Amino acid sequence: MATPARPEPLSYGSYLKVADLLKCQEPESDKLGTPAHDELLFIITHQTYELWFKQIIHELDAVLRLMATDSVDERDVGRVLKHLERVVAIQRVIVQQIDILETMTPLDFLDFRDLLAPSSGFQSAQFRAIENKLGMLRAKRLAYNAQPYEAVLPQAERERAVGPESQPSLFDRVDAWLSRMPFRNFRDYDFWQAYNAQVTAMLAREEEAIRSAHAGNQAALAAQLAGLARTREEFGAVFDAARYEEARAQGQRRLSYPAFLSALMISLYRDEPILQTPFRLLTALIDIDENLSLWRYRHMLMVSRMIGARIGTGGSAGQDYLKRTVDAHRIFPDLFALSTYLLPRSTLPPLPPQVAGELGFRYAP
Ligand code: HEM
Repeated sequence: MATPARPEPLSYGSYLKVADLLKCQEPESDKLGTPAHDELLFIITHQTYELWFKQIIHELDAVLRLMATDSVDERDVGRVLKHLERVVAIQRVIVQQIDILETMTPLDFLDFRDLLAPSSGFQSAQFRAIENKLGMLRAKRLAYNAQPYEAVLPQAERERAVGPESQPSLFDRVDAWLSRMPFRNFRDYDFWQAYNAQVTAMLAREEEAIRSAHAGNQAALAAQLAGLARTREEFGAVFDAARYEEARAQGQRRLSYPAFLSALMISLYRDEPILQTPFRLLTALIDIDENLSLWRYRHMLMVSRMIGARIGTGGSAGQDYLKRTVDAHRIFPDLFALSTYLLPRSTLPPLPPQVAGELGFRYAP
């Protein structure tokens, strides 16, 4: 089919709408006749963030579409991974971007800060959309001025932020994908029994080492043994679905039990060819969560150097609120917790050749 003729040949400027883009920076300080040099930097930095947010949403939407089916084709797992790794690369850039804004001094910021109230980054609808698409739970959000986050959004932007909450999130899709994995039980081989035996042996070795290291110091021995008892408790939950569900009901876990076991299996046997892509996918999710926390932390530090203990333009207790979000607003802490349950490669139960073959080539249920 012939390409329709254009009234004018496409140019760099017309394709990218550069002229429109360059009209989008309107410093309030200029409008009021009190130009503040750094306001342009402030605007451009935020606009750049919003463009990257748009790209992140584009990637997440593609991932959510690919993972929406009941069985995610293995090639699609590779595509999902490409999208997620791109999100990670973008996040690295936008965390770094804080360096540029920090070339503005608090005094430079004061030249125009008051002109911005009551607007705030808290009103970024795309930021909320990203959090929600990743799987942030409303119930886990810290309160902001005792009202839901969307209360401060202009009506026209609310749907963009809140809409994704009623759709399955990346967390939900990953949980379903992991739960469906056929690798948790192998026909005539009880993997979890073999794993349990290795864990028991490992913890017995640790106890022996503690007892011989602290034989002459009862207080230190008791403290170390108490720590070991906690580790045994932690491992116990792996073998006991009821205890796992209890921890889940108390909010200490979010992944479903089958999904947790699959994720652990993937982490333990990540070297098996068929588990390498799933392992990279779990790693990308961990990277995304970590980068989001890094951004929150860097942003909080930037806020503290810019405004000290003053409240934000949005009216919250500024940096206190932001500091608490670094921990409270994490989405995939379950994946970080998997490291608790790893065994050294040397003590991993060997997979029987038939099972290793299935993992290496094709799993035939
Ligand atoms: C001088 C630079 C900045 C200062 C002083 C600042 C200050 C603040 C403060 C105090 C808050 C808490 C809400 C409030 O009361 O307003 C906040 C939230 C927020 N800011 Fe900034 N900010 C700055 C730069 C940025 C930049 C460059 C972005 C990029 C988009 C951004 C995005 C956000 C977001 C998304 C939130 C909500 C965070 C959450 O609820 O978890 N901020 N900011």
